[in-house]
Amino acid sequence: MPVDHIIDRYDARREALVQILLDVQKELRWLPRNVLKRVSDRLGVTLREIYNVATFYKHFSLVPQGRHQMSVCVGTACHVRGAQKLLDRVSNVVGIQAGGTSKDERFSLHTVNCVGCCALGPVMTVDGEYLSNPTTEELEKVCETCE
Ligand code: FES
Repeated sequence: MPVDHIIDRYDARREALVQILLDVQKELRWLPRNVLKRVSDRLGVTLREIYNVATFYKHFSLVPQGRHQMSVCVGTACHVRGAQKLLDRVSNVVGIQAGGTSKDERFSLHTVNCVGCCALGPVMTVDGEYLSNPTTEELEKVCETCE
């Protein structure tokens, strides 16, 4: 199974469940059911417990995620400064709605609440890089750099 090396890294210790899931998420970009079943079997933790953890933390995804993560801030400051228009612009450029992943798994688009730079709002991030109210042309250029 492709995740055994991750489980082995933590000697299949049940106390390492969250760290194992974090590593799986990082490597696969999501937590497929067959992988969670393998983690369950190897750690001796019920699948139910694993799903409790996986659904508690926003960092984990139970559906495939794109290679590039786009997040548009819809916190209060960004909202009043035009976050919805920015979100619409991003959706048009990448062709997906918030919460979605493109069919080629190139992009995932999410909304977030305040990323800590309200004065630059409306803001978004692309793979962790901050962009302040990018135009359509700027967004298209950023997308060109994403494989
Ligand atoms: S509300 Fe968007 S950065 Fe704070």
